[in-house]
Amino acid sequence: MKEICLAGGCFWGAEHYFRNIEGVVSTEVGFANGNTQSPTYEQVYTDTTGYAEAVHVSYDPSKLPLEELIRDFFCAIDPLSLNKQGEDEGTRYRTGVYYSDPDELETISRVFSEEQAKYSEPLAVELQPLTNFFPADERHQDYLVKNPDGYCHLPLKIFRYPKLISDLKALLGDEPDPVARLSNAAALIQERMRFFWTGFYLVKSDELVLGPFQGPIACMRIGFGRGVCGTSWKEDRTIVVPDVEEFPGHIACSSLSRSEIVVPLRDCSGNVTGVLDIDSTELSTFDRIDAFWLERLVNIL
Ligand code: SME
Repeated sequence: MKEICLAGGCFWGAEHYFRNIEGVVSTEVGFANGNTQSPTYEQVYTDTTGYAEAVHVSYDPSKLPLEELIRDFFCAIDPLSLNKQGEDEGTRYRTGVYYSDPDELETISRVFSEEQAKYSEPLAVELQPLTNFFPADERHQDYLVKNPDGYCHLPLKIFRYPKLISDLKALLGDEPDPVARLSNAAALIQERMRFFWTGFYLVKSDELVLGPFQGPIACMRIGFGRGVCGTSWKEDRTIVVPDVEEFPGHIACSSLSRSEIVVPLRDCSGNVTGVLDIDSTELSTFDRIDAFWLERLVNIL
């Protein structure tokens, strides 16, 4: 078992996120890296104690490698925002990774560099040894379990994806048949996330051909480089489309679809074998959180 302390803004939402990630064994919210003894929530709230609201995470590295946990952490923060996450402002809401084992610094730094490469501005996330941690009192522990309608700075979908993925892994088991796997994957995504259309297009020679899906009837063939799906295949990358009308060449299978995300599926040599396509009837349904977790999801297919 390993431990790490992660500050990701208000600890109510941050803990609720980490506790559902497969491989996390336990979580405890508290205050990290400040300069008083045994601070109370009210003292930390004054923003004069130097503490950050943080989640102490115990995890099993055989199920959840450290680099994956740090990537999951980055998914749940705005890494460029200094002392502000969501509407919560103050040094107590700063973001940070506080480690207890100096041997972990190299791995953590590697993920920091990977994340930094996505932005031109510098990351506002601290990376420091854990100097102290004091648990918050009981009413703050598992706050969103005790108060399901309580305040949360994170979007609710971020809590659904980790469970969706661990349930999908269990559901698929070692079933070798790709149609069976993709069919139940589409069904489970749809059941949990209630999108308008969720399905797969599979590469067959020079076209994508409709595969297992859930939702209204859809177009059956899409050329290489055509529409969002064919572009995702051609460019070998996830494409988030906030407004389908703004995407040149978008193929409208249904006039009800207003935003979409397409994630490539790859074989073990890295070749694109198909795409996962999800459509929504609302504008701007998908963002980097969906991209992150759906990329994780297609890896298990
Ligand atoms: N909109 C997609 C076509 C597939 S449907 O959304 C199900 C595209 O432009 O590739």
